[in-house]
Amino acid sequence: MVRLAMLGSGFIGRFYADSIQGLRSKDKIVSIYSRREEQAKKFADDYACDHFTTVMEESIAHPDVDMVCISLPNNLHEEAVMLCCKHKKAVITTKPLGRNAIEAKRMLEAVEKAGIFNGYLEDLVYTPKFIKAHESVKNGALGRILWAKSRETHPGPHSDWFWDLEKAGGGCILDLGCHCVEITRSYIGKDIKPVEVMCWADTQVKPIEAEDHAIGLVKYENGAIAQFEVSWTFRGGLDLRDEVMGTEGTIWVNSFLRTGFEMFTTGKGADYVAEKAESNSGWLFPVGDELNELGYNHMFFDMFNAYEKGTKPRELFYDGYVVNSVLDAAYKSVKSKLWEPIVIEDWRGQVGLTKPSTLVEFDADHYLVKEEVTHYGAKKLILKEKKTGNIIERILS
Ligand SMILES: NC(=O)c1ccc[n+]([C@@H]2O[C@H](COP(=O)([O-])OP(=O)(O)OC[C@H]3O[C@@H](n4cnc5c(N)ncnc54)[C@H](O)[C@@H]3O)[C@@H](O)[C@H]2O)c1
Repeated sequence: MVRLAMLGSGFIGRFYADSIQGLRSKDKIVSIYSRREEQAKKFADDYACDHFTTVMEESIAHPDVDMVCISLPNNLHEEAVMLCCKHKKAVITTKPLGRNAIEAKRMLEAVEKAGIFNGYLEDLVYTPKFIKAHESVKNGALGRILWAKSRETHPGPHSDWFWDLEKAGGGCILDLGCHCVEITRSYIGKDIKPVEVMCWADTQVKPIEAEDHAIGLVKYENGAIAQFEVSWTFRGGLDLRDEVMGTEGTIWVNSFLRTGFEMFTTGKGADYVAEKAESNSGWLFPVGDELNELGYNHMFFDMFNAYEKGTKPRELFYDGYVVNSVLDAAYKSVKSKLWEPIVIEDWRGQVGLTKPSTLVEFDADHYLVKEEVTHYGAKKLILKEKKTGNIIERILS
């Protein structure tokens, strides 16, 4: 059994609490910190927490607490992490780890120095669809991964602080891009170094300083490319889609909008349909079990099992730091309009990789470019002559 302090009683704090305590779980939130007493008390009532407080340190230091779950706005993650280090409490924090890589690195170094358990709550690499797709990728079903794309777009976040550049640390690149970067990085291989970013961003709709729409490319040392598409101006709900392409196959995943559950209603009795759904009438796309579909259940299962076994969860503060480093380069690229290098001072994966050769041996004199059977029954071979470099065609029947 893991006994938790929850810091923050808002949107994600409640999603997390529903997941942690929802299915007769043996794990328990024993303390809740929220800045407003009535909210802290309401959360304590809703989730049967013994202790509630408006003083963050009190919740973290509470003697019954084994692990602290940070569900606070981005500008408060560091303060909370440092208090966990001070009190030597295991800590798991929501995304993004920091508002930038400098903050993220300070947090990473602090938890490692304190020797405390740390987990990065990137739920979207724990969705049932991701887990299955990733297993196929790991088993080689797609061959060598060439391109991974992740898209998260919705009509904009639900609280004031997200829209405040100082508190949030960025716009949709940081808020949603952090998911996309970790998803695509996982498909390409977390030990493969992301090296450069090219990113476009703009504030197309909202009256804010931060970007509300962005598209970025992340180059990896082995030649693979990742792509993220993020927006706070997308209309029609929460669009969560991934695509992965390899030398031997392709995966397309739609996690939220068109999952095979479609409903029509005139609007009677359907107040909440799914996260960020913009309508409760007409044809709707409800989500069967959001906690599970968004990965929260599998994520806490991994975090708590790792904590109890003394091992590491799939997602660590280190991963949060890498993600922040990629996104910092994206912000630089938006300004410079150039490919910007990704600075990871503490890279722990493979080094010195190069792009594999594209020369596929056909016979002593040729490389194979392509073979295809046409609609008129011919088997065509496209070959490259080793000596001349010329491209030739052979028709076999
Ligand atoms: N899928 C995900 O992983 C996911 C989804 C949503 C949000 N998040 C992350 O969760 C964190 C919180 O976001 P949220 O959506 O729950 O926001 P929210 O506004 O719904 O809740 C934030 C909580 O922090 C408290 N809070 C706000 N300002 C505070 C302050 N100055 N001092 C102390 N407490 C304060 C609020 O009262 C509330 O309890 C953010 O880091 C966000 O990026 C993650």
